Amino acid sequence: MAHAHASPDDPSLRELLYGDTLRFALAHLPRPGARVLEAGCGRGILALALARRGYEVTGVDPSPEALAFARAASVKLPAPARRRLALLEIPFEEVEREGLAPFDGVIWHRALHHVEKLAPVVAATRRLLRPGGVVVCHEFAPDLFDDRAAAWSLTVEELLGSPRDLRARTLGDVRSFRDDWKRGHPFHGFRAMRSALSRSFEEAHFSWQPYLFTHLVPLLGGKRRELARAIKEWEVVLIESGAIPAVAFRFVGRRSRDQARRASRKSAPSTGFSQ
Ligand SMILES: C[S@@+](CC[C@H](N)C(=O)[O-])C[C@H]1O[C@@H](n2cnc3c(N)ncnc32)[C@H](O)[C@@H]1O
Repeated sequence: MAHAHASPDDPSLRELLYGDTLRFALAHLPRPGARVLEAGCGRGILALALARRGYEVTGVDPSPEALAFARAASVKLPAPARRRLALLEIPFEEVEREGLAPFDGVIWHRALHHVEKLAPVVAATRRLLRPGGVVVCHEFAPDLFDDRAAAWSLTVEELLGSPRDLRARTLGDVRSFRDDWKRGHPFHGFRAMRSALSRSFEEAHFSWQPYLFTHLVPLLGGKRRELARAIKEWEVVLIESGAIPAVAFRFVGRRSRDQARRASRKSAPSTGFSQ
């Protein structure tokens, strides 16, 4: 399977891959002018979009390539948006030490599942927020990729690929595709992420989301916008009908004022959590 993520360079694919998430984040974040951290901002698609809309944005990511891309893209922002944006090549785990808190919102978009130690990272996310601040997550949960999801992904992938590679597939083929896929995504799973988030935040929203299409649209070569959208909608319908599981979710949580008081009474808050 192609593990590449769809390139956000093509504007129509960018809308397909980030448009809904951006609108969702805007609906849950405080008003423009608020301070927002994007943790694991990658190429900065969301971070730049939020700076354009008036947010004071800090994007952090340890990948030099991703950050270089984000910085190059930020040059094209209007000057006021550029001044509202800081891009730092550091892992999330170093943000507290940088003394950048407090934030009004923290966004984790397809990056929380990558971190090494999930529970301390989620606890630090809460500490970085002002009381009343929100965390907005849109996360991939690789452990939910089962035989049904694998059968659909493999079929679409092969239909979009070279006709020369098309051949009849057995359940055994699907399962080895599923296992390869899981080996390629050795990240935190759904339960660990959901329970760490629920422990630290008052839940304001939870929903299942399509995700497999993000692996399939790169096979379109970035040109067939309608087909890309159809694949995404196809995944949504399959999820809604129960034919395949969702392998991504959204969670919005609030740092309650009580939690903030409790946390401030505790010392060494980054330990003492188990997954
Ligand atoms: C799938 S990409 C998502 C990037 C971006 N949020 C987006 O949706 O376009 C995952 C990102 O998480 C970043 N990442 C991995 N570990 C991290 C950590 N400890 N702190 C911050 N970012 C991290 C990777 O460098 C990568 O850019």
